[in-house]
Amino acid sequence: MVESGCSSGVERNLAKVDVVSSNLITRSIFSLRNPAGVIHPDVLETLFRWSKFVDEEALEEWEARLIGSEVIYTADKPVNRKRWQLSSYVMSREEADELRSKFGGGVSSVHPDEWLPSAGPDAPFILKIRSAIVVTEADEEIVLRKIQEEYPDRIILSFPPQLAFGTGSHPTTAGCLRFLVDISRARGREGWTMLDLGCGSGILAIAAAKLGAERVVAVEIDDVALRHAIRNAARHGVEDRIEFLKGDAFSLLCGKERGKFDVIAANLFSSLLVELMPNFPQGMRESGDLVISGFLTTQTREVVAAGDDAGIQFDDFLRRGKWIAAKGCLPKTND
Ligand SMILES: C[S@@+](CC[C@H](N)C(=O)[O-])C[C@H]1O[C@@H](n2cnc3c(N)ncnc32)[C@H](O)[C@@H]1O
Repeated sequence: MVESGCSSGVERNLAKVDVVSSNLITRSIFSLRNPAGVIHPDVLETLFRWSKFVDEEALEEWEARLIGSEVIYTADKPVNRKRWQLSSYVMSREEADELRSKFGGGVSSVHPDEWLPSAGPDAPFILKIRSAIVVTEADEEIVLRKIQEEYPDRIILSFPPQLAFGTGSHPTTAGCLRFLVDISRARGREGWTMLDLGCGSGILAIAAAKLGAERVVAVEIDDVALRHAIRNAARHGVEDRIEFLKGDAFSLLCGKERGKFDVIAANLFSSLLVELMPNFPQGMRESGDLVISGFLTTQTREVVAAGDDAGIQFDDFLRRGKWIAAKGCLPKTND
């Protein structure tokens, strides 16, 4: 693990320095290395890094020297180590050599591939779901390409933080995704359908479409979330297989015209799940799967009891922290 002094150093530095053009490129590098930042494709060329290790006691003095010389730098330190690494990224080897002759240290070239965060504190959030899916908060094409290269056989889902719930970083979403992978494996290539109640960012609906669902209906009560979900489906190239509906989960489930589904996913909250439970069977095909989450360990008993009453058997539970996700099914009837 690396503890980074980068942001404070950079902020202080940028605040004090009248930035000149090569430093602007350097500032872009900070953005590139920051998951919340912006990729600037026009600066994708080899850069040069000057770097030097300094003792913790000497850090402030070194920072003052660099700031005094108008050098934009980062300061990083592995946890449990006393030495900090000061680095500055510049456009030419001459500039890097100049820093070395002035401050000592070393110089290396940095290929654009290395700019991309793959590990460490600045790397984008990555969640792996079995061997099938990687969810990331990154949305820059170049970062996504890099992730796809690293995980060539996985579906890459890109969900940057938005005004909609569902980036994969929440345990309830992660639990539902895990069950969707299992269900898709069990169902194989058989064309299955899914109803996603409370789709938020659309992450479960999009994952299902990517995992092989031939048709998904996704319902969301919140306008803003729904807009994000529609945009996210287009970004993932599955907009033709997902029907997005603005509305209430309860009304939709009970409305006859939508038909029955092989899978229902509902990452909501416990009281709504309990209220919906008696109505799930009418939206499910025989042997249909139900994936639910959004309830706490302490609420599990009540949710499962509501399932029992409705004829739904929960056979798999995932606990992440205080959150539970559960997979149930509607047993086949013999008549
Ligand atoms: C916990 S988030 C889940 C988002 C996404 N499905 C996921 O798994 O990450 C619940 C979503 O359900 C929506 N929601 C809450 N009550 C609803 C209702 N009665 N009908 C439809 N959507 C609802 C919320 O606006 C929110 O976007």
